[in-house]
Amino acid sequence: MTLVYGHRGFSGIYPENTMLAFEKAYEAGADGIEFDVQLTKDGIPVIMHDENTLRTTGQDFFVKDLSLEEFLRLDTGYVKSGRFGFTPPPTLREVMAFCAEKNFRMNIELKTGVFEYDGIEQIVADMLKEFGLSETVLVSSFNHFSVLRFRRIMPEVRVGLLEESWVLNAGAYCKSLGAEDYNPTVCFLNDETVAELRANGRGINTWTVNSEEEMRRTLRYSVEIGISNWPDRYLKLRRELCGE
Ligand code: G3P
Ligand code: CA
Repeated sequence: MTLVYGHRGFSGIYPENTMLAFEKAYEAGADGIEFDVQLTKDGIPVIMHDENTLRTTGQDFFVKDLSLEEFLRLDTGYVKSGRFGFTPPPTLREVMAFCAEKNFRMNIELKTGVFEYDGIEQIVADMLKEFGLSETVLVSSFNHFSVLRFRRIMPEVRVGLLEESWVLNAGAYCKSLGAEDYNPTVCFLNDETVAELRANGRGINTWTVNSEEEMRRTLRYSVEIGISNWPDRYLKLRRELCGE
């Protein structure tokens, strides 16, 4: 069965990468959430999509230059004109506590594409062990070096290689690196790519599945995880088409 995950925001209604958005995805019945992890200046793992905080908080900083205390003073509610009041971005610890309590799955994206955040893989691994979430989590990154670093620390955790281009022999590539999964943008998922991935025994986690056509196509391919800004619509379609 395809698992449906909320993609950092929910329906564009709630500020993205916030506890509020994650709670709404949970309430909608999603199987899990996808989100992006970076490190503050003092080495604390926090949730934020962009390396710079301007777009989502109106404050022009890099996450890496802020202490945790400064980071938690940011207001992601800013983009929604104060509609939700002061909404600080969460730490990874808060999100893991929430997911552990609710038995909610996570796809942790290590945001190591621009800044590599020395030690982030170990920090995330330690916290996964602390919360006992290693069996259900998926760890992914566009930085495949980072994925392999994580894999060496926690070989028992499923990992996926993120890509946003037309990659040839993606399944063979993932297999050669020991990555169980391939995580492509949904527009690069076609019959040929899916067949090659399946022939190589790889799982498929794809994003961002927002249109009805994309939802239907990914359910037809029985991808392992479909990540959507509209988990409620996706779940409805899954019930109609797959009875689940
Ligand atoms: O992990 C799926 C997707 O979130 C990757 O791209 O830029 O939305 O973080 P982005
Ligand atoms: Ca992401």
